[in-house]
Amino acid sequence: MKHNVFVKSMSFMAAAVMAVTLAGCGDDSSSSSAQSKQLVRISSNQIESHPDVRALKVFEQEVEKKLGDKFDIQIYPNATLGANEKVLELIKQGSVQFLVLSTANIETFDPLYSLFSIPYVFTSEEIYEKYISDPETIKKLNVNEAKNGFSTMVAFTAGTRNFYSIDPIRSVEDMKGKKIRVQASPTNVAMLEALGAAATPMAYGDVYSALQQHVIDGAENAESTLTDMKHGEVCKYFSYDMHQMSPDMLVGSYKFLQTLTPEERKVFDEAAEAARVEEFKLWHEHTKIAIDKAKKELGVEFITVNVDEFREKVLPLHQVIMEKNPVIKPMYEEIVKLQQGN
Ligand code: GCU
Repeated sequence: MKHNVFVKSMSFMAAAVMAVTLAGCGDDSSSSSAQSKQLVRISSNQIESHPDVRALKVFEQEVEKKLGDKFDIQIYPNATLGANEKVLELIKQGSVQFLVLSTANIETFDPLYSLFSIPYVFTSEEIYEKYISDPETIKKLNVNEAKNGFSTMVAFTAGTRNFYSIDPIRSVEDMKGKKIRVQASPTNVAMLEALGAAATPMAYGDVYSALQQHVIDGAENAESTLTDMKHGEVCKYFSYDMHQMSPDMLVGSYKFLQTLTPEERKVFDEAAEAARVEEFKLWHEHTKIAIDKAKKELGVEFITVNVDEFREKVLPLHQVIMEKNPVIKPMYEEIVKLQQGN
């Protein structure tokens, strides 16, 4: 593990050096167009074929189609600029301009985003997708943008999160004592405790080796993580408890966005919306392919569990979270209303 952490921090440093070098190149370049273009870096922790990264290519094309003489968009997948939690700091400083990250990673910066970590706040994927696509939702999430140092442009869907593990989880009883990796968010830790398991928060890129070394017994995510991140090589059981639907946000550096003219900002906003439409289109197809591959090539068993058993254990958390973060109450109530009858 120590070696792994060392390699990781080395690669982060290498990426930082690369970024500085790239910025430097612009100044020394003999080409006048390179000189006048501003480098716009976008970071993602997903692989190149992931819907988020493929959608970012649409963002790049749309911006460069209209403002290609001014901006050079560069996408950095695979967390080459660092883990999301670290890159969010660079976003605030303005040295990285855009980042795609889960709402769970934003929770400690702005409690409003913990709305999406509340287990079973959404039970219908259709309603969830409609809610996160609504520009009004994004506006509400951006109330603290100046203070936060970042603005959410759009939300990408990341499906429904479920537990997957080395030993099977067939009922809530099987959660007992298991060490499960979660994203670093207080709500996730509380959720695992309520289920009788032990939460192990860590960065996305560290999960594979932690599973391989049996430092953890499992993790939780959407199906495509089994194949994208190869977690299905170690975890042969995927249990459909459907505890969360937490989106990936395309956030922009507030500092950077402030430098844009209203016309330029409009181009970036429209490009983000085009990327969102593309991501939603790609997501379901990507998931279907992942399930098929996980079953056939990795031998993963997909388990149907009694969802109510899991839900009952964590429902008292809703009240606790609401009391701790009353700011989320209006949006929480809005979702409950939308879901009535579902
Ligand atoms: C999903 C999500 C990522 C997140 C990851 C995680 O894959 O799309 O944004 O980082 O889960 O569990 O860390």
